[in-house]
Amino acid sequence: MSIYLGIDIGTSGTKTLAVDETGKILGQASAEYPCYTPQPLWSEQEPDDWWNAVVKTVREVVKKAKLKPADVKGIGLSGQMHGSVFLDKQGKVIRRALLWNDQRTTEECEEIESRAGGRKKLIKMVANPALTGFTAPKILWLRNKEPKNFAKLAKVLLPKDEIRRRLTGEYATEVSDASGMLLLDVAKRTWSKQLLSKLELDSDLLGKCYESDDVTGTLTTAAAEELGLTTECKVVGGAGDCAAGAVGNGIVNSGVLSTSIGTSGVMFVHSDDVKIDPKGRVHTFCHAVRGKWHLMGVTLSAGGSLQWFRNQLCGELRNEAQKKGVEPYDLLAKEAATVAAGSEGLFFLPYLSGERTPHADPNARGCFIGLTQSHGRGHLTRSIMEGVTYSLRDSLEIFRELKIPVKQIRASGGGSRSPLWRQIQADVFGQKVVSLNAEEGPAYGVALLAAVGCGSFKSIEEACAATIRTAGETPTQKPAAKTYDTAFPIYQRLYKSLRKDFERIAALK
Ligand code: XUL
Repeated sequence: MSIYLGIDIGTSGTKTLAVDETGKILGQASAEYPCYTPQPLWSEQEPDDWWNAVVKTVREVVKKAKLKPADVKGIGLSGQMHGSVFLDKQGKVIRRALLWNDQRTTEECEEIESRAGGRKKLIKMVANPALTGFTAPKILWLRNKEPKNFAKLAKVLLPKDEIRRRLTGEYATEVSDASGMLLLDVAKRTWSKQLLSKLELDSDLLGKCYESDDVTGTLTTAAAEELGLTTECKVVGGAGDCAAGAVGNGIVNSGVLSTSIGTSGVMFVHSDDVKIDPKGRVHTFCHAVRGKWHLMGVTLSAGGSLQWFRNQLCGELRNEAQKKGVEPYDLLAKEAATVAAGSEGLFFLPYLSGERTPHADPNARGCFIGLTQSHGRGHLTRSIMEGVTYSLRDSLEIFRELKIPVKQIRASGGGSRSPLWRQIQADVFGQKVVSLNAEEGPAYGVALLAAVGCGSFKSIEEACAATIRTAGETPTQKPAAKTYDTAFPIYQRLYKSLRKDFERIAALK
């Protein structure tokens, strides 16, 4: 019997699941941890918290699913992308990790562009422009703003790769997550010596770069003991959570797009070759499928916007939900469903953490626009769902402009579990969305990659074909789609009208 574990080091928590060699899920567990905001728009976490959550969830899954340790043949790792774990020569963490939604590196992005000889040349080297969330600007920030810490720096790892180091002792990564460091020659799938030299960064700072289904090591004795597994257990490359989630949704061929609404919102399409948006609005990264790529657009506060609303403004509703034994989100969605498409002229701009696609603007801010006396909580909730979906449509429009075929849209992530949010997506996109039998996202995707790397499937395409099926569809409702077609250009104009004021607001102390 061969069992594979998929471990996803997310932003709000870690999720671990076990599958058998046919991809059937045998058990899962999750554990949460905090995120620190020492200054507005900074975002940090403790790598020890991730590790403790990995140990706890692996042990829980092994126990719940009654797994025999020797049967666990492989582990696949997924995680929040772009985060920087700074390590010294002894492998000690130097400071808290800076995360993907941290916006402190505007100056360093400018520095990278200028050292590269301009934005166009940078995109030629690494397929993407410098964005505040990416890893390379974080390394430069450490050099510029915390030189004492930089002097200790021996290695930089991504969140899931720090877990790999603690599991196997290896300093390694794989192509999909490495793409988001802004230091990978994405077309050649190797580190960009050219950019590293222009940034005066030593290539020794980086781990060895593998393909996603390659075996990168086996568990050390200490890790095997701590997890209750064996030293025979292999750890495969895995993938950044976007590519891992896409594999979990079966996005391994062209023509299929996935929309995912988690903390962030991601629009992801597979590509057989390297296609680059010359304007750098969407990212081009290596896919977790060998020799393939993907394009994606990321909205930073998607489910995160609704979570903020629930936490900050819905105390009473949360108490009511607790009394009734239901999810606060279900109560919010019930209210929002009574409001007509378009939220009676109320718009929400979901820029609570600044915005990545398409604006790449750390100064952008969240807004409700168009409030009147007649708006209630249901309108606010619905306008948040609509605003997040408009922001996903921004990416879809870019894919359409780049002539990337989108024959099917697959909805996934926590937000898409809401039938209302699925309907809003079908109506805002003007194209039906389908849902899948597998709803486990990135952890499932990397469990499949582990199964491929350890030989239970010949390829990830074969694994997905054997395990992932469409399970339902949400057709577009024409009247709502018409309303959204009229509202979407207004939504797009609002950012343009406010951009300069966002900049002024950000400059206020
Ligand atoms: C992707 C990105 C986010 C994080 C969230 O570019 O920044 O989706 O990976 O976990």
